[in-house]
Amino acid sequence: MVARCRSFPVTAYRTSNSEKGTAMTYEPTLESVRAHVVPDWFHDAKLGIFIHWGLYSVPGWAPTTGPLHEVVAREGWQGWFARNPYAEWYMNSLRIPGSPTASYHAQHFGADFPYERFAETFNRDTSSWDPSRWADLFRRAGAQYVVLTTKHHDGFLLWPSARPNPFREGYHASRDLVGDLTGAVRDAGLRMGLYYSGGLDWTFNDRVIADIIDLFMGVPQQPEYVEYANAHWKELIDRYQPSVLWNDIGYPAAANLPELFSYYYNTVPEGVINDRFTQAPVGDGPPDPAAIMQAIAQGMLPAPPHFDFRTPEYAVFPDIKAEKWESCRGLGYSFGYNRNETVDDMLSPAELVRSFVDIVSKNGNLLINVGPMGDGTIPTEQAERLEALGAWLAVNGEAIYGSRPWTRAEGTTDGGIGMRFTRKGSDLYAILLDTPQQPQVTLTGLTIPAGASVTLFGYGDIAAVQHDSGLTVTLPSPLADAPAHTIKIAGGAA
Ligand code: GLC
Repeated sequence: MVARCRSFPVTAYRTSNSEKGTAMTYEPTLESVRAHVVPDWFHDAKLGIFIHWGLYSVPGWAPTTGPLHEVVAREGWQGWFARNPYAEWYMNSLRIPGSPTASYHAQHFGADFPYERFAETFNRDTSSWDPSRWADLFRRAGAQYVVLTTKHHDGFLLWPSARPNPFREGYHASRDLVGDLTGAVRDAGLRMGLYYSGGLDWTFNDRVIADIIDLFMGVPQQPEYVEYANAHWKELIDRYQPSVLWNDIGYPAAANLPELFSYYYNTVPEGVINDRFTQAPVGDGPPDPAAIMQAIAQGMLPAPPHFDFRTPEYAVFPDIKAEKWESCRGLGYSFGYNRNETVDDMLSPAELVRSFVDIVSKNGNLLINVGPMGDGTIPTEQAERLEALGAWLAVNGEAIYGSRPWTRAEGTTDGGIGMRFTRKGSDLYAILLDTPQQPQVTLTGLTIPAGASVTLFGYGDIAAVQHDSGLTVTLPSPLADAPAHTIKIAGGAA
């Protein structure tokens, strides 16, 4: 059956549909949930903050092996898992004999110290955490939404669930960290989304993940887990009305996802669902490793039959994509806090800005991750990078928020500086990904309507002359160094 339309009392949520006076009621069928339209807010938002916070934030340790795809290309998946730079994987890395994490753990906590005992420290230290300071930082960074890990692969819950873990008593935060952050984020005017690891829960399936295939074979498939994960998602939906359902790794094969998705859309019509609810075929044999390897090499899991947006990880799409996408990555090589990371392992503020602009020009959002320490302190180097992004957005945000890709994403200046384009209505924005050293710069191949006004953000009107080879602009001299400069051409996208 197709999603039905009925009149809907518009209250807290506005959807593209409700703005037109109606809202969908979704049926628990694939066809129905597929009728969901990605809401404008998600297209407009561009920047979200990802937060990985949990028991792994207490040891906060991983080798700084490198960025995902480079490491896998160099060392294969076995090499990746054995020296996993994702600190939130501590519990798994610990169980790989001879791994750097196993040695670190033995030295600092003792080989017999159970991972679960980090809960004592975590619960003690989070009692004085102030969520409004986080929300304030995220707002200053220019983010429009936040996504928090409510349960990562270790299974520890960041909210007081009515469905506690059946195998580990008291294995949850003693404070409602999800609720407290949700409140603070909304008070700051941002939207709140929730991450849940539906595909891996090492308390239900303790298979050590030492190679890529273990990732898919490690998904708990027993009926108790299907019920548990579904109950959690529904509880999170009911309690916190998340604007984003950000599932990870996959989902048990027996789960009825159209039922879950329709429940979500009927509760939060403006919500969006990511593309990591993949249900691998089980029963007749293992998932097809070749297909899985190929999809992962492209920076993503195989897509499930329904999603609102794609999620390349430590990867970006090279061209404009019609489908909405969101690239996620840490500021360094890890999502969870890693005390080994220095600024040398992190994106510089300029790299962060430029990558963000590149993503936006191709129809993506950036979900940039912070990894707070166990007590909720956001390391200075991470906060500084967010502040730098916010400072750039304070001047250039008009070219970003609410923009859409133009007919092409990339260009260059005559001096070889990279450009990215965005548009809003009929206005065109050409964003130079560096500071030109000469005042005269030609935006190669660009033709604009006669008489269009041309401005440089942060300065004002600038002279522009149309040539056959492109548009030559005269920039103020000296021009202060910035990671990127925006030239607005009013009516240039008409
Ligand atoms: C992954 C990782 C993980 C991280 C995430 C973020 O697949 O397993 O630790 O949470 O994706 O994209």
